[in-house]
This record gives sequence, structure tokens and C-alpha cells, in this order.
Amino acid sequence: MNVLLIGGGGREHAIAEAIKKSKQGPALYAVMARKNPGIAALCEDFLLEKETGVEKVVEYARAKKVDIAFIGPEAPLAEGLSDALWEAGVPVVGPKKACAVIEFDKAWARNFMKKYGIEGCPEYGVFTEEGPAHAFIDKLGDVAVKPSGLTGGKGVKVMGDQLPDLETAKAYASELLAKDSVVIEERFVGEEFTVQAFVDGKALAFFPAVQDHKRVYDGDLGPNTGGMGSYTDSGELLPFMLPEDLEKAKQIMNETVKALYEETGQGYQGVLYGQFILTAGGPKVIEFNARFGDPEAMNVIPLIETDFMEVMEAVVKGTLADLPVNFSKKATVCKYAVPAGYPDSPEKDSEVIVGDLGEASLYYASVYEIDGKVYTTGSRSVAVVGRSDTIEKAEAIARQALENIEGKLFSRKDIGTAGLIQKRIDHMKELRGYKEA
Ligand code: GLY
Repeated sequence: MNVLLIGGGGREHAIAEAIKKSKQGPALYAVMARKNPGIAALCEDFLLEKETGVEKVVEYARAKKVDIAFIGPEAPLAEGLSDALWEAGVPVVGPKKACAVIEFDKAWARNFMKKYGIEGCPEYGVFTEEGPAHAFIDKLGDVAVKPSGLTGGKGVKVMGDQLPDLETAKAYASELLAKDSVVIEERFVGEEFTVQAFVDGKALAFFPAVQDHKRVYDGDLGPNTGGMGSYTDSGELLPFMLPEDLEKAKQIMNETVKALYEETGQGYQGVLYGQFILTAGGPKVIEFNARFGDPEAMNVIPLIETDFMEVMEAVVKGTLADLPVNFSKKATVCKYAVPAGYPDSPEKDSEVIVGDLGEASLYYASVYEIDGKVYTTGSRSVAVVGRSDTIEKAEAIARQALENIEGKLFSRKDIGTAGLIQKRIDHMKELRGYKEA
């Protein structure tokens, strides 16, 4: 089998590794904007090209006689790359544009949830004009403000966080309205978690829940990023969740896939990412994404015990219900090392030297390789993942590995530590009142 992977980040490095572990012995090809050394080392050949360059990617897939493709990031999904590859006879793990819209148009996603009565939808409004947008902000009194389009996870601002008061919320809405429509929603209070699933159009195969950390500094301080690190526990649940919380999240995702088929007439085939917030009233939907999360992919993909190629084939053939997708019962902690000054003024083109990683796995992300040396770009550089029986042990493995990565880099020290996890548990206990978390 010839497999084409589109994307060159840490998430795609984890996907590439899983593909190459398959007993089927597939030949891997990749299209990426810059040479990710981790992916390049696993490939027969790669094309350095914009991942949204649909024609060039299809041409490359034809030239390499690709049997199946996996699209990692959201931007090529929004460009219709999946549609174009299917039309060229290449089955794709990654939804067609009609379904990927659930990620790239936040206004569409909320209207869709409302139309199909999907649970977990906040009170919201979609606006193209300042006056009604400001009036709705006043009406709700506590809001999240989102641009409708893709922003790499950095466009959403919420009150009590990046927006100190109603006036700054209105000013941000006005700033966004200069470019796009804006979604204004009631703000939820709780603990965020991610649920990801392979989807074959009908059936879903769920991964363990993950918690990402968007803020750049320890203690959840500083500006938002694409995600500084994430953890899973040794079972499906996170330490602050109850079994019924995960069941509700899964039910919402199942209903979403069914409704997507009804709405678009297309089966959603790929990875569905549900970003939830666990509130006193149960899980609510922050957003859906049409691909694996980054860093969340690096926590869960290496846990899959089922042959990854078999899972990919089941997704494109619609036979996932017949394939048990099993996971090893390990806790994981993923931590990103990012360039000094990230995210506002990152140190670019600075060398990264990877030393002894001990038991940790390394995933190259937004770096490039020249003459065997690896350099930073403006985004997250390398991720390390510790796996063990407990979150605490997995954290120690990841932390130790980071100590042996040299460069003008920093990382969050608190992700996966007992102290931060206890804070999450206490927060949920407080919100729930009496229930044990
Ligand atoms: N970690 C957040 C995302 O991938 O959207």
C-alpha cells in the first residue's frame, strides 16, 4: 500500500509513526510545507509544498500511485483537498468540505447544532453588524467572542479571561467584524476536555479523553496558543470527570455525525474532534474540529493497539463498526518546547539539539531541517510524550526528556503535575457542589 500523509506538524509526525508501525508494511509519502525531519525520516519520498495546494497534492498522489491518504491539518480540508483526492480515485481519512465546514465556519456549526437540537449548544448569535452584536453582548452579560473562520485556535476570546469587561468584548467584536462575521456566545464555566473519534460516515471509534493547556505560561497564564501540552489518564476518563460526562460527550458526537449526514448527504469520514467544557450542568460544546487535535493526537495515537492501516481502511470503507479499536491502558503526558518569546515574538531560525530522551517519545512540529541541523520557526517546535501507569510518572518522563533538548526554547512545567490536576479536580468539585469528581 502507498499512503500519502498531508501535513508537517507534531500531529502528523505521530500519524506517520503509527502508519509505519503497521504490519502491512506501507510505503509512506508526505506533502508538507517545510521538511519535518521526523516525518521525512519515515518517508520513501516527500513533496515540500503548501498543504492547501490542491492541484499539486493530487498530481503528487497520482504520480506516487497512492492507495489511501490521511489529511492532518484543517486548512487543506477547508480547501476541499479531500473531495479532490476522492475524485482522483484516492480514498481519504479526512472529511470532504461539506462536512469539514463544522470546523471552518463556527457560525455554520452553531446554526447546525441548533437546527438538529444537538445538546451542549450555548445561547448564541451570529452577527455581521456592530449595533446588534453589541446589544447581544449587553443582553448575555458574560460572553465568548469568536471569529467565524479558522484562526489556528487563537481567535476566541472570553470574558473573565482575555476580555476583562463588556466594553473590551464589544471592541473585540468590532475588530473581528471588520474582516468576518462574528459569533457571540454565553460563556461557560468549567473544565475543558477533548474527545476524538475515528468516523466512517456512521460508526465512531472513540479515543480516551484528553485535556489540553492553551495558555502559554504555567498556572494557565499568558496568551492563548495552539496548545502547550496535554495529558490522558490510564483509562478513558480524566481525573475530574464522571463516567456519565464522557457518555454524554460521546452521545453528542454520535448525534452530530448522524445530523451531518442528514444535512449534507455526505458521510463524515475522518477524525472528529469534540472540544467540550464540563460545567455544573454537564458537558457543553465549545467547538468541533474536523481532524485530530495538536497536541492531543500525540497522547492518543501511540496508544492504539489495533493496526493503524486497518483502522484507516475501515474509515474509508465504512466498516469501522466491525473493527475493535483497542488502546493500551497507559497515562500520557505531552509537553511542547516552544521558541523563546512564543507566541508573540518567537525566536526564529534558532537551532534545536535533541539529546537523550530516556523513555519519552519525540515528535517534531514546526521546525525545519537543513544539512542535518534542526531550526525553529515561529511556532511550537518539538513535543515530548511520556507514557506510564500514572499521570505523575508519565509527567516525570516527559519533564526529564525536555531537560535534554537544547535551544532557545521553553515549556510549561506544570502540565500533568499532581498540583495542577488536583486544581482541576477541586474546581469541578466546587462547581458540582456535592458530587464526588
Ligand atoms: N489543541 C487544540 C486543537 O488542536 O485545536
